[in-house]
Amino acid sequence: MRIGVNREDGAETRIRPGVEGDLEELTRIYNHYVIETPITFDTEPLTVEQRRPWLAAHPDRGPHRLLVAEEGGKLLGYATSSAFRPKPAYSTSVETSVYLAPEHVGRGVGGLLYGALFAVLEREDVHLALAGVALPNEASERLHLRFGFRPVGVFEEVGRKFGRFWDVAWFQRPLAR
Ligand SMILES: CC(C)(COP(=O)(O)OP(=O)(O)OC[C@H]1O[C@@H](n2cnc3c(N)ncnc32)[C@H](O)[C@@H]1OP(=O)(O)O)[C@@H](O)C(=O)NCCC(=O)NCCS
Repeated sequence: MRIGVNREDGAETRIRPGVEGDLEELTRIYNHYVIETPITFDTEPLTVEQRRPWLAAHPDRGPHRLLVAEEGGKLLGYATSSAFRPKPAYSTSVETSVYLAPEHVGRGVGGLLYGALFAVLEREDVHLALAGVALPNEASERLHLRFGFRPVGVFEEVGRKFGRFWDVAWFQRPLAR
């Protein structure tokens, strides 16, 4: 799996498929955003066991992938391509997402993960990537625009968390096939 170099500080970052041994740290990273932010619409932190089906749904083959970024043995974050909706005709579309440990945002790691993810997806039978961004989230919007996504609209007040409603902006990007 490819090795990337961060734009900001030149540190070497390894991008590789996520495995069982990463699950605890991946759950910790995700739970930060569950507890502290409206970025994800999960409202209760997940246990490692509850998160295991998610890991199993992203094997190291096919269109639904999990890639992690690692530096000196430490996990910085992850990117996924996941099923968009369950009905079979949607199988040519994937929903993509990136989550970095909060101490590693803003260093270009999200771009490394997305670059590797879209390179992998070039070899898969997928036609469209979709991403939903709960607003506001300028870093995520900019990342998606940089990776060739275009905005397709905003679902207004589509979710409730922390006692208020949140909008979600949707983005789409064509894939190779
Ligand atoms: C969104 C996220 C994956 C982006 O990854 P990143 O490595 O931090 O992104 P980068 O450092 O490459 O910055 C991406 C862009 O956002 C901008 N940016 C970074 N931090 C920002 C901030 N706090 N406010 C506004 N813009 C910001 C950068 O300047 C860059 O802009 P450019 O592409 O026009 O040059 C990362 O910030 C993250 O994990 N955030 C929390 C979880 C999240 O929001 N996930 C996305 C769910 S939809």
